[in-house]
Amino acid sequence: MVQTEAHPDPAGGSAPILVASNRGPVSFTVEDDGSLSLKRGGGGLVSGLSAIEDADAVWVCAALTEGDRTAARLAPSGRLDRAGYDTGGQAVRMLDIEPGTFARAYNGVANSTLWFVHHLLYNTPTAPTFDDRFRKEWASYEAYNTAFADALAEEAAPGATVLVQDYHLTLVPALLRARRPDLRIGHFSHTPWAPPEYYRMLPDDVARDVLTGVLGADRAAFLTRRWAEAFADCCEAVLGATTSRPADGDLTVLHQGRTTRIGVHGLGADADFLRERAHRPDVDSRLAGLREAVGDRKVVVRVDRTELSKNIVRGLLAYRHLLRTRPEWHDRVVHVAFAYPSRHDLPEYREYTAAVQRVAQEVNLEFGTERWQPLILHVQDDFPRSLAAYRLADVALVNPIRDGMNLVAKEIPVVSDAGCALVLSREAGAYAELGADSITVNPYDVIATAEALHQALSMPTAERTDRCKRLAAAATALPPQQWFLDQLHALD
Ligand code: F6P
Repeated sequence: MVQTEAHPDPAGGSAPILVASNRGPVSFTVEDDGSLSLKRGGGGLVSGLSAIEDADAVWVCAALTEGDRTAARLAPSGRLDRAGYDTGGQAVRMLDIEPGTFARAYNGVANSTLWFVHHLLYNTPTAPTFDDRFRKEWASYEAYNTAFADALAEEAAPGATVLVQDYHLTLVPALLRARRPDLRIGHFSHTPWAPPEYYRMLPDDVARDVLTGVLGADRAAFLTRRWAEAFADCCEAVLGATTSRPADGDLTVLHQGRTTRIGVHGLGADADFLRERAHRPDVDSRLAGLREAVGDRKVVVRVDRTELSKNIVRGLLAYRHLLRTRPEWHDRVVHVAFAYPSRHDLPEYREYTAAVQRVAQEVNLEFGTERWQPLILHVQDDFPRSLAAYRLADVALVNPIRDGMNLVAKEIPVVSDAGCALVLSREAGAYAELGADSITVNPYDVIATAEALHQALSMPTAERTDRCKRLAAAATALPPQQWFLDQLHALD
């Protein structure tokens, strides 16, 4: 079991607000001449944090690549800002965790175990198996979480607020509370949470440690009420905790004399940023290229990381079924599918990428003609090209098996030039806000998904425009900056 005894070192640092996440706002690459080049990342947390104008805020993250490690080692105490890097507004402390420990924590526990549990991804007759190897991975996960807790305890000013992110760092809230009881600690899960009967696959002690780790926070928050309820269900079933669940407002979990509030903050799309960015010249030129490829045909767009939970293969099978059963769409539709590389250290992800490419090729072989390529698949990340596809979309296909939120479902209606219809899995967190104006699908049902695509492609223009307006309004109800501030204020 992970050690959470208090280490009375109240000295701390000077940061009044801290964020902790595995992936930080910047990453480094070692160039051929040995120099380091820095790339700034995007995403909800980066734009969220831009809402606070406190130069003393500190973001603690892990070094993920060799370039990151070199930068972290060269910077005083891993503080990239003190080494003169432009980290984008706030100070960044990058932790150089021993590579083996990091890999076992990130690949072994976070991405192969907790991610699989929360997204219901196991093929249970063969996996998971919790053996000696897993125990070594788990010990590394504890060490990795401890490194974060130590760094946060060192950087935080007395009474500071700390927002800990995601399934990588579930043990940090309890570890940090033991070190610094004066802090206000929040934890935010960007993933779904598993239902108790699935969650209980974890070894009993691990299942307990993850829950009590998160409960070390004053407030644990989720993207939807559904995931918050699932967390509370697990606390009841695994820990015997007592919960209260008012219809609106925070849930609470009472365990061993401490109460943790459980909140919900549905991260929205950043409309201002997206609309401005989607009309820059680099997007326009890619849009012209895509337009030439699709001609005057209708366009079904999907953009995902090549992620098992995104259900890309079934999406392609649904498109194939549409073309098999509805020949009226031949030569009248193109599916633009962007599936960007992700987590290629894991064999399941490499195999999945190959399966996506294979099925895409089969579709083109079966239906393609000299003048019509029914499916355009790209597997290299290109953000401006994604925005160009968003603009072009007549139909957006978002069919995950399970997803914390799915921001693509929120972004496409905001950006699409002519208004799009949304085919949306009922298992995406975004369904809670967008379900009413989307065409809902069961992600496992390929025939029903094909039918939903047909319905979306056939939707009258006026209805599509109206629905898209409402989708865009719902999608932008809680922009990233407000999402972040709400969490800070809820901890006041
Ligand atoms: O939803 C969990 C999450 O951490 C997201 O915030 C992010 O989009 C994704 O997983 C990225 O995963 P990774 O850092 O492993 O590429």
